Amino acid sequence: MRIILLGPPGAGKGTQAKLLKENFNLAHISTGDLLRKAVADNTIIGKTVKSYMDKGNLVPDNLVIELLKERLSLQDINCGFILDGFPRNVAQAQVLDKVFRDRNLNIDYVIYLKADAPVIIQRLSGRRVCSKCQANFHITNMPPKKEGICDNCGSHLYQRNDDKVEAIKNRLKVYLKETASLIGYYLKQNKLFEMDANFPAPLVFEKIKNVFSNPTRIVLPDP
Ligand code: AP5
Repeated sequence: MRIILLGPPGAGKGTQAKLLKENFNLAHISTGDLLRKAVADNTIIGKTVKSYMDKGNLVPDNLVIELLKERLSLQDINCGFILDGFPRNVAQAQVLDKVFRDRNLNIDYVIYLKADAPVIIQRLSGRRVCSKCQANFHITNMPPKKEGICDNCGSHLYQRNDDKVEAIKNRLKVYLKETASLIGYYLKQNKLFEMDANFPAPLVFEKIKNVFSNPTRIVLPDP
């Protein structure tokens, strides 16, 4: 199974991708995670992309495409995969289409997670991430047992620079300007499944599983 998760920041793409990975044994490919690793490792790409990411802007296409192609060359994708955070604009989607055509692959589902701005801001501004194992917590929705400390490994929790309110607002603007047009792009390809992601994560996951058992695509009306 090959899945693209589409949706605004904070819609729950990463959360649903982890559930899909665990339940369906798929590789989870998050370009955000790949980029954050490049920043943490202080690679040449990492040094270039940090300021884009901190402000909530998209990093240049050529850099993210390079990382993605490298990731798609690993063996684990043969069992199927979830793309979380890629593509982010039509140019990236076209590159992806070409990569898949060249490899005789196709995307089975594009799951569009829809969430409202107040929900997104609440989720992202309260998120805290473990500095070591990257586990996610939330100051009210999912607080750690001890404030500021990871339940899993005892390391310190931090707030992503792009989870500060100004950066979140910019990410939402960037989403509308650059990414939202992908809804029409995949609608035309007859691959889009839309769902309300304002609900708790387990409920959203149930809806995704329903799509697999009863795929009702959104079909464009005849012109
Ligand atoms: P990326 O890491 O992809 O960030 P994002 O898309 O902005 O998404 P998030 O991870 O913040 O949100 P999400 O939808 O995955 O939600 P999550 O499950 O994590 O990208 C970061 C940056 O990298 C970009 O801004 C850009 O600079 C760069 N980048 C990445 N890909 C790129 C590309 N292709 N091209 C160019 N630049 C690129 O959940 C968020 C929070 O909400 C968590 O605390 C979670 O616990 C909580 N939550 C999730 N679901 C629920 C729920 N149903 N109910 C309650 N809480 C929930």
